[in-house]
Amino acid sequence: MVKFITLEDYYTEQEPISSEDKVEAQHEQEQIEKPFVFINAAMSADGKIATIQRTQTRISGIKDFDRVDALRAESDALMVGVGTVLADDPSLTVKSQKRRERRKRAGMDENPWRIVVDSKARTPSDAEVLNKGEGKRIVAVSEQAIVEDIGRLGEKAEVLVCGQTEVDLKRLLHDLALRGVRKVMVEGGARLNWSLLSQRLVDEIYTFVGNLVIGGDSAPTLVDGRGFDTLEALLKLQLIRTEKLDEGILLRWRVVNEVPKAYENDHETA
Ligand SMILES: NC(=O)c1ccc[n+]([C@@H]2O[C@H](COP(=O)([O-])OP(=O)(O)OC[C@H]3O[C@@H](n4cnc5c(N)ncnc54)[C@H](OP(=O)(O)O)[C@@H]3O)[C@@H](O)[C@H]2O)c1
Repeated sequence: MVKFITLEDYYTEQEPISSEDKVEAQHEQEQIEKPFVFINAAMSADGKIATIQRTQTRISGIKDFDRVDALRAESDALMVGVGTVLADDPSLTVKSQKRRERRKRAGMDENPWRIVVDSKARTPSDAEVLNKGEGKRIVAVSEQAIVEDIGRLGEKAEVLVCGQTEVDLKRLLHDLALRGVRKVMVEGGARLNWSLLSQRLVDEIYTFVGNLVIGGDSAPTLVDGRGFDTLEALLKLQLIRTEKLDEGILLRWRVVNEVPKAYENDHETA
């Protein structure tokens, strides 16, 4: 049974509650079977999150990196797709020592849970996300993963078999909620973003739009995947914050997750 989370539980440190954050916590109360899920990404002015070589690209500046670090430190779990692990090899650690110490003082690990969504257990054993910094790790795989790879990854992380051909994200999020994870920060990439958004599992999106154009038909965008095929199915967003940051702009969006009737039984998952 998932614990019902109140506004008071959510703000344990009794910080002043902004109206934006109240809405975030109310969402959490309404959706007790899964944690609050938000995507954070940096994209170019033309909506790309990497180059055509799919290599990591510096889009943000110092202030935005610090904002991302603060969001990480406030989250219970950080999630990425295996495509991002293979392309960027991120460690997903909290960079600020002060923030790591604050987490320790609050009785938490220095880093949030790190979750890799990886149907076929392709995550390399030496991936930074499995090796750098303290904290729990989960590699979520499907029944397609071979036993040897599950064993190999099991030495570094908890391996959760969750889904037949790809990772069942609803089940994964439900499982995380049962473990007490209340806030999940998704850090890409494009296909994972699509799966989560198209299954109406995302509550908010932060996009930092940087001052460059990347271009390229095959360069990953904020959301790739199949795409919605009817106008009714398009996912609507509400703009809740804008801020000029570094040489770009930060946008915070709330996802309007009401499913159009005609589309209810036709959710794309990959
Ligand atoms: N600018 C930014 O903020 C930012 C942030 C992160 C990433 N990126 C960029 O994004 C690119 C990576 O994006 P990507 O789309 O290639 O990879 P991704 O979204 O990180 O990972 C997608 C992979 O995850 C696996 N997966 C398992 N279950 C899934 C499910 N239910 N839904 C979706 N995926 C599932 C699939 O591989 P299997 O079938 O093998 O399991 C799938 O191909 C890189 O170029 C990286 O640099 C940019």
